[in-house]
Amino acid sequence: MISFEGQSFFITGAGGGIARAASLLLARQGAHLALADIDMHALESLQAEIAHIAPGSRVSLHRLDVADAGACRAELKACADVHGGIDHLIHSAGIYPERLVAEMSDEDWRRLMAINLDGTFYICRAAIAYLREGGSIVNLASLAAQRGSYAHAHYSAAKGAVISFSRSLALELAPKIRVNAVSPGIIATPMTNALLAKKGATLLQNTPLGRLGTAEEVAGSIAFLCSPLASFITGETLQVNGGLYIN
Ligand SMILES: NC(=O)c1ccc[n+]([C@@H]2O[C@H](COP(=O)([O-])OP(=O)(O)OC[C@H]3O[C@@H](n4cnc5c(N)ncnc54)[C@H](O)[C@@H]3O)[C@@H](O)[C@H]2O)c1
Repeated sequence: MISFEGQSFFITGAGGGIARAASLLLARQGAHLALADIDMHALESLQAEIAHIAPGSRVSLHRLDVADAGACRAELKACADVHGGIDHLIHSAGIYPERLVAEMSDEDWRRLMAINLDGTFYICRAAIAYLREGGSIVNLASLAAQRGSYAHAHYSAAKGAVISFSRSLALELAPKIRVNAVSPGIIATPMTNALLAKKGATLLQNTPLGRLGTAEEVAGSIAFLCSPLASFITGETLQVNGGLYIN
């Protein structure tokens, strides 16, 4: 297994399915964790679980709305102060509201972009000053970026931009910092509950591996991209979708 002994991670959306699983995996491998989310209760419950599975882990909690540029700056600084710098940023915070374009208000569009796209810019920009040489950024994209997604055009557009942004940032931060994206297919987390209730059977039919992905499987890909095993990988988008992209 990969060791992250003594390395510090800033993780957004840590209260949610995928980043929570990544936080638990990294804690087991010795990482120091700065856990950020808009939902403080979810962070507190994660902190309790980490204390149970990896006693002695150094963990800080950061209540953060990633759509707030000033808050991103403040929390990245707070993290660097507590942990003495940042080795890796995992940016997983996001929303997935359903809306047809014909019924989408300006506010629907702007809110989605503010959280899923502006947030990516704000958090990455704020992290640059603190990231240590040899570190990395992993942004969460989505299969929706490549395939499109019915009733989620705003989400799909934002995730496409997250991929392009990550590739461009990889050029700017090389050779010191690597920047990659992980693009999940359909993963069983709170985010996909509604989608699975409606279209679960069809999605499974179109997935060659014949099942949904787990948050732990996405977490493994994130950890891989942060690790020395991926030391020559930057500007990439790793698809984690059970083959759904092949169809
Ligand atoms: N689950 C999937 O199938 C799937 C597929 C493709 C991409 N993704 C992407 O992976 C990432 C994680 O998804 P997940 O399944 O863990 O979702 P989730 O809903 O379980 O977690 C998302 C987390 O983001 C937090 N959040 C929402 N708005 C925020 C804000 N303004 N500031 C800070 N935190 C905020 C939520 O509180 C939540 O804890 C997201 O970016 C999502 O778009 C997920």
